[in-house]
Amino acid sequence: SWLQKLINTSFFLSFFFLLSTADSQVVGPHQPVVALVDDDVILPCHVEPAEDVTAEILEWTRSDLNPRFVHVWRSGQDLVNTRNPSYRGRTSLFINELKRGNISLKLFRVKLSDGGTYECSIPLMEKKSFVKLVVASDAATSPVISLSGIDKNRGGVVLQCESAGWYPEPELLWLDGEGNLLSAGPTETLRGPDDLYTVSSRVTVEKRHSNNITCRVQQRNTNQSRETHIHVPGSNYIFTFMIERL
Ligand SMILES: *[C@@H]1O[C@H](CO)[C@@H](O)[C@H](O)[C@H]1NC(C)=O
Ligand SMILES: *[C@@H]1O[C@H](CO)[C@@H](O)[C@H](O)[C@H]1NC(C)=O
Ligand SMILES: *[C@@H]1O[C@H](CO)[C@@H](O)[C@H](O)[C@H]1NC(C)=O
Repeated sequence: SWLQKLINTSFFLSFFFLLSTADSQVVGPHQPVVALVDDDVILPCHVEPAEDVTAEILEWTRSDLNPRFVHVWRSGQDLVNTRNPSYRGRTSLFINELKRGNISLKLFRVKLSDGGTYECSIPLMEKKSFVKLVVASDAATSPVISLSGIDKNRGGVVLQCESAGWYPEPELLWLDGEGNLLSAGPTETLRGPDDLYTVSSRVTVEKRHSNNITCRVQQRNTNQSRETHIHVPGSNYIFTFMIERL
């Protein structure tokens, strides 16, 4: 019947379509790419299996920008006019690699605002892939621990820890001498006009704690970590002395 024919035809067509699109694809990295501010970085992207894409239109875009074009290659050359101004003069393809299907983008002098999700695509082949770039600040300062007060009720000293210059937002941990997590107050986070984060937190160190205390500030996505140790005078005498003086 005509219905059966139609079904058969559409089966055949969709099968054919699947085959033809599955034979090559654009592939990005499985992990986010991490870069420090001011570094140069490569955003990886390639066609698999490898084929010459020199004659194709190639686009690197960010859908959250307007204009969204980071880098465009067309008719065998870079198309400069459409490019988002914030990337002007800071991007390049590896032109000799295009014949191997490598459309990786080099981004020079990375800025905090470059962090985001990039799309690498061959629009006419309807193939694309995403590359996430995480930009980290290299301005993070070592944590500074200060004595902030005495907790008479709990018989302990209150320490404060602060660290500035972070991006992305880090977490702050207090550890005792054995590496156990201490339960501390909430971490306060401030974001400066430079977009960098300052974090601080307080903890009450009681007599029962071993007295080598660590404040660690870390950013897991970028593997950055800074820490500072403080030796709290832990003897009963010192605690009593300090508490009585307040
Ligand atoms: C693409 O080229 C860049 C720059 O030479 C290189 O780092 C990257 O490994 C290449 N990727 C592939 C899949 O060959
Ligand atoms: C305190 O502990 C840290 C590790 O948690 C260690 O590196 C440091 O040497 C210790 N300091 C003292 C004075 O014991
Ligand atoms: C972070 O460190 C781990 C283990 O040391 C490593 O496997 C991972 O690739 C690192 N990540 C980054 C973004 O450097």
